[in-house]
Amino acid sequence: MQPPPLPDPILSLRHISKSFGGVKALQDVSIELRPGETTALVGDNGAGKSTLVKVMSGVLRPDEGQYLFEGREVPVNGPRDVARLGVQTVYQDLALCNNLDAVQNLFLGRERTGPWWTGFRVRRAECERRARDVLRRMRLDSIALDRPVGAMSGGQRQNIAIARSILWEPKVVLLDEPTAALSHSAAEQVGALINGLASHGLAVLVISHDIHNFVLENSDRIEVLRLGKNAAHFRSGEVTGEQVVNAMVGGKEGVNSAA
Ligand SMILES: Nc1ncnc2c1ncn2[C@@H]1O[C@H](COP(=O)(O)OP(=O)(O)O)[C@@H](O)[C@H]1O
Ligand SMILES: [Mg+2]
Repeated sequence: MQPPPLPDPILSLRHISKSFGGVKALQDVSIELRPGETTALVGDNGAGKSTLVKVMSGVLRPDEGQYLFEGREVPVNGPRDVARLGVQTVYQDLALCNNLDAVQNLFLGRERTGPWWTGFRVRRAECERRARDVLRRMRLDSIALDRPVGAMSGGQRQNIAIARSILWEPKVVLLDEPTAALSHSAAEQVGALINGLASHGLAVLVISHDIHNFVLENSDRIEVLRLGKNAAHFRSGEVTGEQVVNAMVGGKEGVNSAA
């Protein structure tokens, strides 16, 4: 049977190189994200995964290479340009404020304020309504809106960070190791959340080290970086964890470390 035709990529990076002093973090790396698909970005520590995500999110400017959105090369001079395209990023450190509650964190820095004669006071009720709506759509109703996020579990904090990224209806979401510090069940919930985004037509990129439990179960394709270069790519349904780990470490020695 013929597989259905692939949708065109929404975001493509081509021939990206980036050095930090003498360290070649990325060398001639290309990657494509398609609507409705989750792409897992994997590789050993130092392979260049976070650097690639930072180039995608506009935080880092590559030394070389092209940034294409919806098939056209676009100028990217910083994170604002990328956000304007509809690309949101959930960083490894989450960047949540522990002393603030879920609603405040969701709207951090972009609160809805009243007009100037009210002193631009934050419209708490409106923020709460929108927060509740987004969390319900993400099936995260159990999150208390008015508790400081510092008092929440790692999984809940991760979910709030993801909810914040989709608050403005992006087309692409990039997640740097969203499950790194999570229990198995919390990681499963994040996986379900990511699947939900892709099934709503978003293009998702997720970095993860957990090949066997997370990547194979929650991605459509896998892009492997090794020592700053594209090393391999797979369709997740057509590959074993061992093959992915082998591509990450480059050779047979991966077989044992995968066990
Ligand atoms: N800001 C930076 N300054 C200097 N070197 C960096 C910086 N960021 C990353 N690197 C280096 O670039 C390489 C790739 O790092 P990174 O993208 O963080 O890898 P990964 O996320 O795959 O673990 C590493 O050798 C790392 O030390
Ligand atoms: Mg990293």
